[in-house]
Amino acid sequence: MQTVTLTRQGQVAIATLHNPPVNALSAALRADLLQALALALADSDVVALVIAAQGKAFIAGADISEFGKPPAPPILPDLLAAIENAAKPVVAAIQGVALGGGLEVALACHARVATPAAKLGLPEIKLGLIPGAGGTQRLPRLIGATKAFPMMLSGEPIAAQKALALGLADKLVESDAVGAAVALAQELAGKGAPSKTGERADKLTAGDREAFEALAKDALAKSGDMPNAMALIEAVRGAFTLAPAEAHANERALFVKLVADDRSKALRYAFFAEREAAKVPGLDESAKPRPIARAAVIGAGTMGGGIAMCFANAGIPVTLIETTQELVDKGLERVRGTYGFSVKRGSLSEAARDERMALITPHVGLDGAADADIVIEAAFEEMGVKQEIFGTLDKIAKPGAILASNTSYLDLAEIAAVTSRPADVLGLHFFSPANVMKLLEIVRPAGTAADVVATALWLGRKLGKVPVVVGNCFGFVGNRMLAQRTRAAERLLIAGALPHEVDAALTGFGFKMGPFAMSDLAGNDIGWRTRKSLGKTAAVADALCEAGRFGQKTGKGYYLYPEGARTGERDPEVEALIARISQEKGVTRRSFTADEIVARLMDPMVNEGARILEEGIAARPGDIDIVWLNGYNWPAWRGGPMHWADSVGLDVIARRLQAQAAESGDASLEPAPLLRRLAAEGRGFSSVKAAAA
Ligand code: 3HC
Repeated sequence: MQTVTLTRQGQVAIATLHNPPVNALSAALRADLLQALALALADSDVVALVIAAQGKAFIAGADISEFGKPPAPPILPDLLAAIENAAKPVVAAIQGVALGGGLEVALACHARVATPAAKLGLPEIKLGLIPGAGGTQRLPRLIGATKAFPMMLSGEPIAAQKALALGLADKLVESDAVGAAVALAQELAGKGAPSKTGERADKLTAGDREAFEALAKDALAKSGDMPNAMALIEAVRGAFTLAPAEAHANERALFVKLVADDRSKALRYAFFAEREAAKVPGLDESAKPRPIARAAVIGAGTMGGGIAMCFANAGIPVTLIETTQELVDKGLERVRGTYGFSVKRGSLSEAARDERMALITPHVGLDGAADADIVIEAAFEEMGVKQEIFGTLDKIAKPGAILASNTSYLDLAEIAAVTSRPADVLGLHFFSPANVMKLLEIVRPAGTAADVVATALWLGRKLGKVPVVVGNCFGFVGNRMLAQRTRAAERLLIAGALPHEVDAALTGFGFKMGPFAMSDLAGNDIGWRTRKSLGKTAAVADALCEAGRFGQKTGKGYYLYPEGARTGERDPEVEALIARISQEKGVTRRSFTADEIVARLMDPMVNEGARILEEGIAARPGDIDIVWLNGYNWPAWRGGPMHWADSVGLDVIARRLQAQAAESGDASLEPAPLLRRLAAEGRGFSSVKAAAA
């Protein structure tokens, strides 16, 4: 046995799993555990078995990388049936996480011991799946469907203390879960044949069924048409309506169908892409993060305040800097207000809010950055302003301090050049609201030191972000691609679509908001200012701004917002304006289907993604997808723009772009060389290997 060691403590055998890094239930581990069980059962000196694990996890679940491959025996449900049906008691000793198939192993055991650090959960829903090895059956039978269903629906793990309260764990011990599990196993061995959770029915009362059905109805209303929420309900319902063997078979059939669903494939792809993004090709492995004990944020606007909150939330003291007392007070008040919402919602205690507020020190003047190990500038988006700040910081900041800019577009090399320490400068691009959005684009201009990048990666994770290292170019990865979508949306209006049609196509695709509703929310004047600074125009968008239609804040933009409404209404005036602009440009307007709109919005973005890859701005297609999934609300079950493009077929996208380029005369819509090459070779982006950044 390679992944399981079988030892003995008195009359109790201990099967210790060691399948680093997280004891995922690979084919080898399943086979070894089955063998360990058989050996323990065959040994007449052994009265019981404990399943324990080495490392930080008990078991993190099924091996996700095996999904979609032909299943190698023993499959997990068979292994778990063997555990449950064992004539000798089996006890799980849970230290660390027991997730998915890992918790299902523990549920098949006859008892469970946990330490306070243990976390127990069935997160399959987040991968577009449902528990597929008895979780939907044994958990309701153990704690009732009313408690079990919400756990499976949210996928969020629960702490050991709560597991004990629910009856999911039988015993909680401060440490030495194995010792306690051995004692419990010995005790159970004296009590005759072990009781099987899978055959219990005492919790499945009529009242439990009724309460579960009410929760299920609510869940269906909220989950849209995600197939796994429906499957979860069907599987759990089986615990009430079917014989145990049939209910297990029903769960398995639903699980197997979901594994083959493209939506689950996309979510699984994103799981691995996110972890891959943390590994930066070409980054000197000896580069160690610099210690970060104190931070400073320059600019107490919405962005700066949000970034300061990220530090406070992570327990890192931070100085929030502004140019005047009034501005810094206002910024701090905004932060307090945001924490106040969390307190009101009950997601943050008043004590925790006070602790976090105490970590934020307001200060007037850049000298407040003198003692910071990292300074993040979040001031006005103008090169002159940034250069002046960095020039001053260069004189003030302590040696070795990291100097970062939160710029969304600007050239980091130009900013770094005004300092005497360009190797310490990089971009840390947070997304609004910074205390909520997960993405952190780490922008690495050519001269940044490797340990500065390593620090940024460490810090990103410490702040609870998903960090992605990108190269230095206008707009980096996310905004550079977004600019293409914005241009495409304007083109669609002129060609014949109306704002609500474009927005509906995008929400139909899975986004929470379409580009025009989004622009109205953010303020149309932002893009207008940027276009003017770049000498660019957009006929419809410019005309709206010239008419003072900045969006929700002015009560009108692409839509009308009467009396402060949050959802816009169609405005005949805007639609007439768009028709007039089409006419002036000599365009005969035509209608577009939702699919055509989606293609016209997405294809140019994918094309830009191909250029970004070719230029080495992103190291791999997965990094681009992680940017879009975590910074721009790309629908998770579509896996990101590059994954989506592969699912459509790059040949199809290249052909569509070619046709658009011909129709519009816009050469920038010609397929990028990489896209053209991959399409011609019948390959997808997924075949592109990581490039050293
Ligand atoms: N299968 C395969 N690999 C896994 C894995 C799994 N279930 N869980 C984690 N890994 C790998 C990661 O890919 C990563 O590999 P890498 O080092 O090569 O990049 C490594 O383990 C460490 O993972 P993290 O970087 O995520 O480590 P953390 O310490 O931050 O988190 C964790 C650990 C909480 C276990 C987290 O990895 C996690 O949430 N894993 C997924 C848990 C899950 O979804 N389980 C359910 C699987 S589906 C299932 O069980 C179906 C069943 O019902 C039949």
